[in-house]
Formats: sequence, structure tokens, C-alpha cells
Amino acid sequence: MASAATTSAQPPILEKYALPELPSVAAADPHRNVLDAARLSVAKIVSEAWGVDADKVFMGVDTGKKGADLAIAIPRFVKGKPDEAAKKVLDAFKPSSLVASATQDGAFLLFALDREGFAYHLLRTISHATKAAEENPESKTAAYGTTEEGKGKHMLIDFSSPNIAKPFHAGHLRSTIIGAVISNLHEAMGWKVTRLNYLGDWGTQYGLLSVGFDRYGSEEELVKDPIQHLFQVYVKINQERAAETERFNAGEITDADSTIHAAAKRVFKDMEDGEPKAIAQWARFRDLSIEKLKETYKKLNIDFDVYWGESQVKPESMQRAIDVCVEKGLTCEDRGALLVDLVRFKMDKAIIRKADGTTIYLTRDLGGLHDKWNKYKFDKHIYVVQAAQSLHFRQLFKTVELMGEEAAGKLEHISFGLVHGMSTRKGTVVFLDDILEEAKETMHEQMKSNEAKYAQIEDPETTSQIIGTTAVKIQDLMGKRVNDYNFDMKRCTSFEGDFGPFIQYSHVRLCSVQRKNPNVVVPSAVEEVDLSILNEPKIHDILFHLALYPQTVRNAFNQSEPSGLVHWCFRLSHLVGSAWETIKVSGAPEEAAKARLFLFVQTRAVLASAMRLLSLTPIEHM
Ligand code: ARG
Repeated sequence: MASAATTSAQPPILEKYALPELPSVAAADPHRNVLDAARLSVAKIVSEAWGVDADKVFMGVDTGKKGADLAIAIPRFVKGKPDEAAKKVLDAFKPSSLVASATQDGAFLLFALDREGFAYHLLRTISHATKAAEENPESKTAAYGTTEEGKGKHMLIDFSSPNIAKPFHAGHLRSTIIGAVISNLHEAMGWKVTRLNYLGDWGTQYGLLSVGFDRYGSEEELVKDPIQHLFQVYVKINQERAAETERFNAGEITDADSTIHAAAKRVFKDMEDGEPKAIAQWARFRDLSIEKLKETYKKLNIDFDVYWGESQVKPESMQRAIDVCVEKGLTCEDRGALLVDLVRFKMDKAIIRKADGTTIYLTRDLGGLHDKWNKYKFDKHIYVVQAAQSLHFRQLFKTVELMGEEAAGKLEHISFGLVHGMSTRKGTVVFLDDILEEAKETMHEQMKSNEAKYAQIEDPETTSQIIGTTAVKIQDLMGKRVNDYNFDMKRCTSFEGDFGPFIQYSHVRLCSVQRKNPNVVVPSAVEEVDLSILNEPKIHDILFHLALYPQTVRNAFNQSEPSGLVHWCFRLSHLVGSAWETIKVSGAPEEAAKARLFLFVQTRAVLASAMRLLSLTPIEHM
């Protein structure tokens, strides 16, 4: 792996674009974020004119308000009539290579960027970072928009976490998609991330599955598609169990021990006791399921560091959790079961040991946390799980806090809303694989509808698979994560409108402008670009939007909210889309062609990093 030292040093700033000395403000990152540098240079003038701390003024310099590049609401800092305060700033204002002019508009001070100087500083920052990222493909903090502030910190994330032998439902799909982005965002902020898949692979239902497999299982089917087959077996035995329970309740069956329910409980008890035969069969189901899951995650471009699961929690850790809860007086008993009493926190009572002595989901999360803490000593542990489990996580976190665990306070539940209407042509029980397959087919059909273009696609299979996956992911990420949404395969795979394919398409177009102009030499540094050519309004809009990127990434990180980043991609795609007609490379005079191509090459690089943060694979041809 290349070390950062091999990265070429950035040449000094050209004399004509030199900046005045900027105040140092903790929240600002002027070396990576050019708008921060511009905001700082405004903050310097204003803070001196008004005698207000530069930190405070910095926070009050807004971007993109009142149609201006930068704006300050005067009443936020100075009471009374704004004219006098404005005059002080306007008198003191001296243009710099970043900020060209200042004006007053009622209660606002507005600042315009120096377009050429701004283009210089921005493209210099982006192109240098892009080069560094190319030289260090392993580095997560080289690309434009990343930082190293999280250096030395470790985040453990539990996401996806499906249940073996049950379908991978919409909740797992969302957890997978959102969790992957949250992981990437942490890495972009310099954190070390461990991605953990906490499989639901333990509990009474695996006793039931085992009873079902002995009756209806097929070795051949199991090996072919373990997840499908185990699910079919599970559904069948579960129906039979339900019917039997009805007959039992009606008095038609009298021997409780002969029921499927009782048999399943016995097998689960055997599993908990470590009985080799019960364990061996369960382990096979688990291993085969993991193999199959891995194939599917690969299609999604998602990787886990650890496949863990409820079965892996150490029995002694669960016992310890129970003991600590009892010692600390947190528990009560009810019909032989042991519960933690969280009624005074309005979180009900939660069972931690069932009457037959077996453990439950919460017990495994309590014990599991102890195991994970011992192993990872994380600074933060995020669980990405649907909102339906909010109470569970509140109970878990509260119990951990009352137990006095070291990990308490480092835990976070990132929840999300429901998906409505998710079904595939095969039916309403949805398997992740089927969704991805259908997204791919739908994309493939869309692409075929343009015969001429279709003929040019080198590998339509892979291309439709990638765009199909993009469509599903973007549909999931484009709304605020707490909101529900309607799954609509046709809509999300459309090239018309703000959906996933549009982002891929924009990336392809940005790639093709370089391909189509092989005779134009791409400048190797901004110093070789005639910046006066980049002075047009449409280009300024693109540049300004690129300048907003670092803050967009940071906001997404701070709020664990990918939607802002998705909309940043849509907006960039629109800006670029509306520039093609006027900002031509082919046929333009040499210097103009070079400058514009440099802009498009850098724009492509930033769009590609944004897409990668969203766990997408940017494609180059379509
Ligand atoms: N397997 C669980 C389910 O499908 C989700 C697990 C989430 N993680 C956790 N540590 N509880 O509902």
C-alpha cells in the first residue's frame, strides 16, 4: 500500500491568487473546503469591523442565500438599524482572490466570490485530492470531501443482520443499504470501521426448522438454494404447528408432549445445551445460508468484516448480564420468567430469561454487547435496525446504562421507516435476490428499447445489474430515512426524472466527454488552465455546487442521513446536464477545450466519490 508520503506535494499557490491570512476557527476546514476559506475571509473583515469573535461570524456566513454566494444576516450580530453596521463592513472591505465584492441588501450583507480566484482555489483543491486518491487507492481520506478528524476512532456497525430461514424483508434491505452508507461516511471522516452482520440464527424457531427439515427437507434443494428451501420448510412446518395448536385448544389432541411445538422446544433446548447432533444440523443451515448471502451482498457491492450472530454470543456473557441485573436490583419475576423492570422509564418490563431457562433476543443483545466490547473496545457502536425495534433498543441501552457497563453511552440506534408495496413478479414474499434480479431485468428491458444504443453496450448483463442495483439503492436513500416510502420498481428504474439511473447516466456522460475528445490534452494541474474561460455563469453554478460537497458529506455524517448526498448528486447531474449545450469541448478553441475538459474531468471525479460513498459502482459506458 502506498503511503501518504508518496503523494506528490501540492505546488505553492500562484502569487496572483494568494490569500490574506485567515483567522483560525475550529469548525472551519479551509484546506479541504474552499467555501470555508471564503467564509473565513469574510469572517475576518466582519469580526474586525464589529468587534465580534471570528468563530461566531464564521458560523453566521451562509452559502447560497438571497441569491448571493455568501450572506450574513446583520441582526444576528448587531441590534438596531443595520445601515450603520453594514457601512462599517463595506468601508473596511478589501477584495481578495476569493471574495470580490460586498453589498448591503436591507438586513443582509451579501458577498460575491471572485469567480476566477474561486475557480482556481476550488479546482486546485479538487484536482490535488483526486490525484492523491488515485495514487492511494486504499486510502479512504484522500479524496475531495473527506477529512481525517476521526483518526484513531473506531466505529462498530451492526447492519443488515437478516434471519436465517426467513425471508430477507424490506427492513433488512433498508438496513443493508443505509448501513453501508453510514459505514462509508465514517471512513470518509477518518474513522476505522468494522462492519458486522449479526445474523438471527438462534432461538426456538430453529428448533422448529429442524423438526420441519427432518420431515420435509431435501438435501438437494438445501444445497441448491438454502435460503429459499429453509424458508419453504419453515412455512410448511409452521402452518402445521398452528393447525395442531388449534386442535389442541379444541381438545382434539391431549398429549402436549407429542406436538410439533413441544418437539421444537426440545430441539432448541438441545441446541442451547450444546447437544452435538442438534448443533451439527443447525451449523450446516447457517454455513450454507451465509455462503448464499455473501453472493447476494457481492451484487450489492457490500462487504462485511464479520459474520457474527445471536448463536455466537457467549453463554457466560449472557449469564453475567443476568447476574449483574439481579445484583443491581433491576429485575422482577413473573410466572418463572425473569424480567428487567423499566416501567419507571416508561419502557415496560422486558424478559431476559424465559421460564424454561432459555434465553431471548434481548438477553443475546445484552451478552453480545459485552463480547463485542471486549473484542473491539469501540468508540461508537451503531445498530441500523427498523423503527419497529425502537423499544427493544431503548430497553437494551437503558439496561446497559443501569448495569453500569463501559459501553453505555457509546451506543446508537439508527432507525428508518417502512417500505410499502414491495413485491416481485414471483409473489409478495420477497427475497433480496429476486428484487435484485428483477431490477436488473427491468433495466435490461429499458436499455433494449433503444436499439442503436443497446448495440454499443459492451457488457449489457453487468451494466444492467449495476444500474438496477443503483435504482433500488437510490430509491431507498433519496427520502429522509425516518420516512416510509412506496417501493416502485418501474419508477425507480426510469431514466426520466431524479432516480438512480439518472446519476449513472450523468457519470457516463462526464466520462464520454473525455473519450470523445481524444485530441484535447487534459491539463495536469490547474496552473495550466486559462481560468478566465471558466468565468461563465453555468460553470460558476457547477463550481459552487462542487464547493458545497465537503459540507454535504459532513452533514450526511453528522445526521446519519444519506438523502442530502443523493440530492447533491441529482442537482449536480442537472447542472451538468444543462451545461452540455453551451459549454462545448468539441469544436471549441484549444484553450477553451482544455479548460472545459479539465472542469468536466474534476466534476466526474467528485461525482464518482459521492457515488462510492453511496455504495454505488460508477459506470463508465452505457
Ligand atoms: N435479526 C434481527 C431482525 O431481523 C435484527 C438484528 C439487529 N441487531 C441487533 N443487534 N439486534 O429483526
